[in-house]
Amino acid sequence: MERVKLIAPSILSADFAHLAAEIEAVTTAGADWLHVDVMDGHFVPNLTLGAPVVASLAKVCRIPLDVHLMISHPEKYIADFAKAGATYLTIHIEAATNPRKLIQEIRKLGCRPGITLRPGTPLTAIEPFLDEVDLVLVMTVEPGFGGQSFMVDQVEKIRLLKQWRGQQGLKYLIEVDGGVNDKTVRQCQDADVLVAGNFVFKNDYAKAIATLKAH
Ligand code: DX5
Ligand code: ZN
Repeated sequence: MERVKLIAPSILSADFAHLAAEIEAVTTAGADWLHVDVMDGHFVPNLTLGAPVVASLAKVCRIPLDVHLMISHPEKYIADFAKAGATYLTIHIEAATNPRKLIQEIRKLGCRPGITLRPGTPLTAIEPFLDEVDLVLVMTVEPGFGGQSFMVDQVEKIRLLKQWRGQQGLKYLIEVDGGVNDKTVRQCQDADVLVAGNFVFKNDYAKAIATLKAH
């Protein structure tokens, strides 16, 4: 059964001086989730925002907050992001010393746990945890910056995740993040959720979201 595609605009590409207005605009334009990229300047070479900003966003956001943690030592911060109002809380396998424990803690904190991996990390690294997560995020760029080109060599991961889910009766949603636009969306047909930063925020929001949903 095909699921309806969900679109999660990434606020990394929004105007940070007007985040509340940007969230309202993108929600009205048809966004299903809001993707929030948390970067620590250590796990990735860029700094963005932390739990206090997520708490402020949660107050003005009517759609689920899809929080992508690109940080070292995620175990130190998950409680803060849960308290801040994250709906989905996704950790990188490369940053987790005990992924299963962390995933279970995220669920206990009242969030939906997600797992993700850098493009260079094989799918086998997250395979043991697929029965515990609600979301698997496939990175189709090197994490750290918006506006990069879609890495076609990652598409096989999307296909395999869908195949495994069917074969093993698993439940996770498959999300794709990085370089998704009107051209590359065709490569994402096996995904359930599409993150898009530049393609949404640098174009007409409603048209861009409708274009992604049409595929
Ligand atoms: C990259 C982030 C992405 C990024 C996507 O590290 O995880 O969510 O904002 O932006 P675009 O769609 O512009 O590649
Ligand atoms: Zn992201």
